[in-house]
Amino acid sequence: MTTEPANFAENIHRVDYLTPYAEPLTDAGAYIDLALRERESLDGDWHFAIDPYDTCLRARWFEEKYVDEAGRPYPVDFSFDQWETISVPSCWNVQKELWYWYEGSAVYVRNFSFEPGPASERVFLTFDGAAYAAYVFLNGEYLGWHQGASTPFRFEVTGKVRDDNRLLVVVNNDRTPERVPMDNTDWFNYGGLHRSVNLVRLPKTFIETASVALRPDGTYSTVAVGLTLTGPDLDGQAEVTIPELNFNEILDVSGGVGIEEFDLSPELWSPDNPKLYDVYIRYGADEWHDRVGFREIRVVGQDILLNGTPLFLTGVSQHEESVANGRSLTEEEIRENFRVAREMGCRYVRLAHYPHSGLTSRIADEVGMLLWEEVPVYWAIDFANEATFADADNQLRELLLRDRNRASVIIWSVGNENADSDARLSFMSRLVATCRSLDPTRLVSAACLVDSTALVIADRLAEHLDIIGINEYYGWYEPDFSKLPRLFENSAPTKPVIISEFGADAVTGRHGGADEMFTEENQEAIYRRQVEVLGSIPYIRGTSPWILYDFRCPRRVHVLHGYYNRKGLLSPDRTQKKLAFTVMQEWYKTK
Ligand code: GCU
Repeated sequence: MTTEPANFAENIHRVDYLTPYAEPLTDAGAYIDLALRERESLDGDWHFAIDPYDTCLRARWFEEKYVDEAGRPYPVDFSFDQWETISVPSCWNVQKELWYWYEGSAVYVRNFSFEPGPASERVFLTFDGAAYAAYVFLNGEYLGWHQGASTPFRFEVTGKVRDDNRLLVVVNNDRTPERVPMDNTDWFNYGGLHRSVNLVRLPKTFIETASVALRPDGTYSTVAVGLTLTGPDLDGQAEVTIPELNFNEILDVSGGVGIEEFDLSPELWSPDNPKLYDVYIRYGADEWHDRVGFREIRVVGQDILLNGTPLFLTGVSQHEESVANGRSLTEEEIRENFRVAREMGCRYVRLAHYPHSGLTSRIADEVGMLLWEEVPVYWAIDFANEATFADADNQLRELLLRDRNRASVIIWSVGNENADSDARLSFMSRLVATCRSLDPTRLVSAACLVDSTALVIADRLAEHLDIIGINEYYGWYEPDFSKLPRLFENSAPTKPVIISEFGADAVTGRHGGADEMFTEENQEAIYRRQVEVLGSIPYIRGTSPWILYDFRCPRRVHVLHGYYNRKGLLSPDRTQKKLAFTVMQEWYKTK
């Protein structure tokens, strides 16, 4: 047993200062499907300070030791209640110019009062997303931590929450080779409590997860309802109600698990008819409520069938970003994104490269937009690292559990543009297995790279996928455009292919000859050549060109980039369309 030197001071000498915080790590195993449950918001102004040396965790500021045993004051290095404030949810990068490029730890602090309810109630502190890791403290007690920038997590605080409470969260957005994504991406590294924080009260026994979906058997007449409970009363009967269908049935629950299939033929959800039903599941004192669309997505041969009808996925790729709010898109910004995509003729959006907010998929259900959702297994991940796999797999599980009842979501993507190594094949085929085990009702894909030497679609991951996503930039990164048709002539995929990315940079309003790079005319010419070839390949069943609008990108330092990726079909604020927008609009009219 090593003992520290007599003059050892924890907060300045301890190198492995994060070790005491390694447990508990909250993850998908603790998932609670909040659906449309009532929430008590903790959004609003929190006290805030960046903490570049992680001193809060090193020196345990959260204990708030202001005096010694004899009441003599300490010269503490923090002043939570005098700090400036930041609004939650938000990305600190766009809240203050000083914080724009900041990467590291930051400390959020707020007080809140709490009116206790019935003695049997259970209370949870819920976070819709924190980028990248969050360490949570309530009234000086460490509750635990979460990793993964874009998926929800929660801590039970029953019996810990008082009349007046101090809530402190350390959020860290460092880029590291072990994280998911790792330290090199083609997007801006936002940080913070970028999604809402709430308190939720639940009965002693409550419905933890629920799934409501058509059985994917081509009959559209069987609805499977599954649920899991947590609490002391795990055996009994749940009541499932869909008022608009005059449906009210009993679901037997044993050991906290219930699953039943019911004869039911609801009106089917589709982009042209985004029909949603209120579904209620009651068990004891608990009521779960969500609005659910019923549809079926399947692959047959090289066709993608929505409710039995083959379709071409007329799409576009999109980051989760606005100029004003970074990742913390407002509802109107989300709606504007879908509106302008629909104006282009899109019925489908690839939400790249990480889980977008739960509000986004909920609005897609409402407006009728099909979605590809993705975890940020992007480029060169530490594929041989089991801890990295656990992080990626957990983000995937939290995404699948969050959006399992969203009709709009038809494709889970396990990653983007990863080199075809053995370690990567093992890592990503295990992620595919997670999708299969958690959700047999949706399709699985990934954005793969072609073998650019042999000029063929040959990614070994493809055999594990339902749909082969292909990113290709012929005419831009690969100037020899003649390779594109040859690529497809050389390839013989046995399943549908989606061109998950193609495109070129263009500065909005910059005009010139079709051969002049970074002009709208050049981007337009590349798009015209792309759609001419892509439209002639029968096994291509969808496209999501890169990208709906320009986005912040620290890798783009050409004077015409200005730290933006300019491949958008619109300007960053989506107010100006580029010429190539019309190329897609005209082409999609033929689909
Ligand atoms: C890649 C990658 C994108 C990136 C784009 C580009 O394919 O998937 O994240 O932004 O190409 O280079 O612009």
